[in-house]
Amino acid sequence: MGKNIANTTHNFLFCDGGSCQKAGSEEVVRKVRAYLRNNGLWDSTHTIKTRCNGRCEDAPTWIVQPNNYWYKELTPEKGLEIIKSHIHNNEPVEKHLLYQNKWDKVASEKEIPAYKLKPFSILEDTTLGSCYLTRGFASDQYTFPLFLYLKEHSPTSKLILDDNKSILFSDIKEVIYSKQYVLELILEQETIELVIAPINQKDEALVKARISIVEYFHQITTNKKGIRFKNKFGHQLGLIWLSDTAWEYCSKVQLQGLTIEKQPV
Ligand code: FES
Repeated sequence: MGKNIANTTHNFLFCDGGSCQKAGSEEVVRKVRAYLRNNGLWDSTHTIKTRCNGRCEDAPTWIVQPNNYWYKELTPEKGLEIIKSHIHNNEPVEKHLLYQNKWDKVASEKEIPAYKLKPFSILEDTTLGSCYLTRGFASDQYTFPLFLYLKEHSPTSKLILDDNKSILFSDIKEVIYSKQYVLELILEQETIELVIAPINQKDEALVKARISIVEYFHQITTNKKGIRFKNKFGHQLGLIWLSDTAWEYCSKVQLQGLTIEKQPV
């Protein structure tokens, strides 16, 4: 039988992502769990390992519930201090906090400024000709939503693969992202696989197949708009011709409001 979580008063969510592991998260987790076990607190608390909490610069991080307390730069000593304070006094340890509800910003000396998109620039591209072009985000957190949106809302957008195979989004039956780094486009007779997430950099074939650069362009002579995908060496992996509606979606969601007329602030 599983744990009766109805009896728990505190949840400790330990980040177990790569940066936190490198910064020693496992040692903290083990020490804290041992304390809970040895002090009769195992059943009244719950510990959970999570994937990246999005604050790698402050690794190792934790979240304590209830009340959404975020902690930073943990060590086994700080970890014990924190859980004792929450469990026995119902209070956070303010000096180790990264964030708590109602703060207007995080308490971090290591804040990494958010990546800013560059404005569209006019250029003469060898394959696209005269165009406005900018780079978008290439992580799977953008690429998967992009393909999902196009499949659901933009049947006339068209994907051209590097072998010149052309696929209308209306012909895509399903967009599935369940594998570790591969996005699957399910067609009637076949499945197209796109590598969209971090891969083993030693695997040459995967590195060549991974979408690492995403460019948004507006061809000046034809007035056509689209997206071009490249690997990290700049080799083109595919291109999508977008409907006007899809271009609007891309400006709003994928480019965070950036348009040819409106430059980033
Ligand atoms: S890996 Fe822990 S915050 Fe990113």
